[in-house]
Amino acid sequence: MGRLGEVCYPCRRRSVWCGVATCVVGVVACIFLVALVVYLMFRPNLLHATAVDADLSTFSLALKAWTLTYNLSVGMDLSRRRARLVLHYHAVAADAYYQDQRFAHARLPDFSQPASTNVTRLQPSFHGHHQLQGGVAAAAFRREDTEGTFSINVMVVAKTEIQALALRLPGPHMKLDCPLRLQRWNASSSQPLVFHPTACYVSY
Ligand SMILES: *[C@@H]1O[C@H](CO)[C@@H](O)[C@H](O)[C@H]1NC(C)=O
Ligand SMILES: *[C@@H]1O[C@H](CO)[C@@H](O)[C@H](O)[C@H]1NC(C)=O
Ligand SMILES: *[C@@H]1O[C@H](CO)[C@@H](O)[C@H](O)[C@H]1NC(C)=O
Repeated sequence: MGRLGEVCYPCRRRSVWCGVATCVVGVVACIFLVALVVYLMFRPNLLHATAVDADLSTFSLALKAWTLTYNLSVGMDLSRRRARLVLHYHAVAADAYYQDQRFAHARLPDFSQPASTNVTRLQPSFHGHHQLQGGVAAAAFRREDTEGTFSINVMVVAKTEIQALALRLPGPHMKLDCPLRLQRWNASSSQPLVFHPTACYVSY
């Protein structure tokens, strides 16, 4: 609770002077204030996320072992419209999914969005190996491999804190889900890569 606790329970230290009614009114007012701030900050139309570029330089599946080798980076723009308060993001993490299987995880640095910031760029990148489970995913991989375009979901989660003046209030957990269609980079191919900026789903 920390600072929020001090604000919401001012009566704890002065319990002799503080009637139960005062405490209840204080707590209710405090809950209302938090709810109002959260509502003002997080009306879904206020926060938008778009995947603006992506680089899939390695994405291959070893036969039989079904080991996926990947090297993927994504640029995501997180924008707020008519932002009035500072927003802090922490415990930021990104996960990449192929065929509903999580194959990669990455931590991202904490960041803040001052009230005047419209857009913040996130740049999750993943590389390594992962064992795919089941033949369905492997079959989907072979199909997409011949098409040359892969369906990969990148999700970002973060905890938020809303700063109003000197006060930091815990905000909701944020979750972005970006369903991407990615072409693999191929040095021997003369065709340029096309990436269509993709809107991500924002939820709390
Ligand atoms: C991943 O791809 C990027 C861009 O193509 C490259 O700079 C980087 O070295 C690659 N990383 C690994 C581990 O292969
Ligand atoms: C941010 O929003 C303000 C007001 O809408 C606008 O004037 C400014 O150009 C925007 N900045 C960027 C970097 O988009
Ligand atoms: C790269 O493109 C060439 C020509 O289009 C193709 O023959 C080759 O298999 C591709 N390589 C990979 C790794 O996709």
